[in-house]
Amino acid sequence: MNYSIIYSSKTGNTKQLANIVQETLTELYPDAVCLSCCAAEDAPEDALTADRVYVGFWTDKGTCDADTAAFLGRLHDTTLFLFGTAGFGASSEYYKTILDNVRKNIAAGNTVAGTFMCQGRMPAAVRTRYEKMAEADPDNAQMKQLIQNFDKALAHPDETDFNELRKALRAWIASVH
Ligand SMILES: Cc1cc2nc3c(=O)[nH]c(=O)nc-3n(C[C@H](O)[C@H](O)[C@H](O)COP(=O)(O)O)c2cc1C
Repeated sequence: MNYSIIYSSKTGNTKQLANIVQETLTELYPDAVCLSCCAAEDAPEDALTADRVYVGFWTDKGTCDADTAAFLGRLHDTTLFLFGTAGFGASSEYYKTILDNVRKNIAAGNTVAGTFMCQGRMPAAVRTRYEKMAEADPDNAQMKQLIQNFDKALAHPDETDFNELRKALRAWIASVH
C-alpha cells in the first residue's frame, strides 16, 4: 500500500489539514509508503501512481484553486480522498456545492471515496474591504453577516475540525479496505 498527499495552500489553513492527514496515516498505516507529500504545483509523476491520493485544496470562487484543479486533471484510475477549506462555513450544502464543482476537474475512471471540508480563516484585507462597504452602506445586512462570518472563520481550522478530519479518515480507511 502506498499513498500521496498533495495540497494547495496560500495562507496555511489547508496545509494544516495536510499535516493532520500525514500524521493520521502514519499512525493508521505504519507500514504504508508515502510516495509524496507536497504542494500541487510541485507534484511529481509518482504522486499520480499511488494506491490512494489525498488531495487538499483551498476554495477560490466556489471551487478548488487553480493548482489543485490542474493536479486533479492529471489523475487517472485513482482512488481519492478530497479535503478542503473555505472561508464560509457551517453549511453542509455549501460544502457539497463546492465539492460538486471540484469534481468537475476529475476525469471519469477516478473514484472520490471520501471527502472532508471545514472553514478556514481569511486575510485581514478581506475584513477591511467589508468594513469599508458596510460604512458606505450602513443598512446593508448582508455586509454585517459577512463580517460576522469573517470573525467566526478566524478560529478555524481548530482542534474540533482536526478531530473531524481524523474521524473522516478513519471512516474512509474502514470503507476502502
Ligand atoms: C482570492 C480568494 C478567493 C476566495 N474565494 C472563496 C470562495 O469562493 N468561497 C469561500 O468559501 N472562501 C473563499 N476564499 C477563502 C479561502 O478559501 C479560505 O480562507 C481558505 O481556508 C484558504 O486556505 P489556505 O490558507 O490553505 O490558502 C477565498 C480566498 C481568496 C484569497
